[in-house]
Amino acid sequence: MDRMLITSALPYINGVKHLGNLVGSMLPADVYARFQRQRGREVLFICATDEHGTPAELAARAAGQTVQHYCREQHDIQARAGAAFGLSFDHFGRSSNAANHRLTQHFAAVLEENGLIEERVDKQIYSIDDQRFLPDRYVEGTCPHCGYEKARGDQCDNCGRLLDPIELKEPYSAISGSRNIEVRETKHLYLLQSKLQDRIADWVASRTDWPALTRSIARKWLTEGLRDRSITRDLVWGVPVMKDGERRPGFENKVFYVWFDAPIAYIAATQEWAAAAGADWERWWRTDKGAGDVRYVQFMGKDNVAFHTVSFPATLLGSEEPWKTVDTLKSLNWLTWYGGKFSTSQGRGVFMDQALDILPADYWRWHLMANAPESDDSSFTLEQFAGVVNKDLADVLGNFVNRITRFCKARFGEAVPQAGAYGEAEAALTAELDRRIADYTACLEAMEFRKAFVELRAIWVAGNEYLQTAAPWTTIKQDEAAAAASVRCALNLIALFAALSRPVIPFTADRMAAIFGLDPETAARWPEGAAAALSRFRGGEPFSPPEVLFKKIEDDEIESWRARFGAE
Ligand code: 2FM
Ligand code: ZN
Repeated sequence: MDRMLITSALPYINGVKHLGNLVGSMLPADVYARFQRQRGREVLFICATDEHGTPAELAARAAGQTVQHYCREQHDIQARAGAAFGLSFDHFGRSSNAANHRLTQHFAAVLEENGLIEERVDKQIYSIDDQRFLPDRYVEGTCPHCGYEKARGDQCDNCGRLLDPIELKEPYSAISGSRNIEVRETKHLYLLQSKLQDRIADWVASRTDWPALTRSIARKWLTEGLRDRSITRDLVWGVPVMKDGERRPGFENKVFYVWFDAPIAYIAATQEWAAAAGADWERWWRTDKGAGDVRYVQFMGKDNVAFHTVSFPATLLGSEEPWKTVDTLKSLNWLTWYGGKFSTSQGRGVFMDQALDILPADYWRWHLMANAPESDDSSFTLEQFAGVVNKDLADVLGNFVNRITRFCKARFGEAVPQAGAYGEAEAALTAELDRRIADYTACLEAMEFRKAFVELRAIWVAGNEYLQTAAPWTTIKQDEAAAAASVRCALNLIALFAALSRPVIPFTADRMAAIFGLDPETAARWPEGAAAALSRFRGGEPFSPPEVLFKKIEDDEIESWRARFGAE
């Protein structure tokens, strides 16, 4: 497939994301999108802020802003942080935009025509003091499953179970804290997922290359049996529920549930991108308009898998319209902060904006991806971060580039040396690199990031070992031509490393390509094989040594960050 649609789970609007959120979907999606672009595929990489629902209303209230103002401001902050981290979205949209309102209402209308939506009367928690219904996170209480006392109405943070607010014991209002609460009846729209059970099960069975974690989560939901689910909420902020061009009677104070409209925003954000870029969104999303040729890959944290393998497909398949559905999903586990939770309120953990205050994006990108929480949760510690940066980036990659460019400049001048021919050492290096590049490429294709970056590091190490053995600083004394050949080979390695490292450390890859003044497109092309890469510069090409690529992290820096970011 030469066209790839890639989406990252949409970050909630409330607040700058932490490193765990970043590595949970946006960063691996970016690495994959960059890799696929470098492979020459036509990639469309879409993300947006997920703006509706109780978290946005509660956060706006806490900030003393209108929810519109709050969301606009936070969207811009997140867009800037993402760009500074090198997240190469083709479009970073907003789920609250008009396109998503239209499309969400469209899906609701066709699902209802198809007999898959009905009105039901629901029992719901009403706060007498707040004079309103309390959906989802507006109510908190004791979890009926594990006894945790601060469970939210929609989900228990302790045991992870999804909840219906009326299941909570000892409920109280998250707005006022009031326990003056009663259960009242009110109308809601239900999506009749139970009618789609077989349809979804067949569709899941037809997806042949889902990773094990993804498939097991989807299977668990199907085995438990799909439940009809309420897709409206008593909130002001959201997509209004309409009927024949007016607010639907009985739903004047209700909007669609955030998890109904959020995934639809993948499509709506593509529409926005297309409108701005003068492109055609349908060839990415409508199988009757060419999207059958697209491979669609989604990235998300593990808590999102059910919504992407069951709920969103129910919306798309239930519409009976020719929508593109996901081909494969990459789901990640949690990154913890010293084994616990990242928390804005308790000042625990590094958030995206703070991270870039202290070090460039590539330091974080490398560590996060090389230690991505793939097979299990993994813990972030500043000590481990510093160790990885100092060893992999400063000692291995940075040192290689620094050493050879400086040596060449001192002994041969600022152009790739011409003399000498490659011999056995270069042949052995070529064979090793061919094997490793093939393996690295296959791991990236398979989205096995940890393994991929073990291999990339081994590629850098192979360069260092080659240089160590070739030792042009020694050979130059007896055999200048041999020294020139190994310097030429090592300079070629820099350009090769730049292309291979670009998906994960794009800013550094630019700096490495700039050593030789390579134009970005040539520099980014995925290598065909080591032999071609090592004879790219034949001699005479000018270059200039860069400033040090990576600075080492010192112990006193770790100490001060420990205090600043609540490390324990
Ligand atoms: O868990 C989250 O962060 C959600 N905001 C993800 C939404 S993904 C999509 F479906 F919109
Ligand atoms: Zn619980």
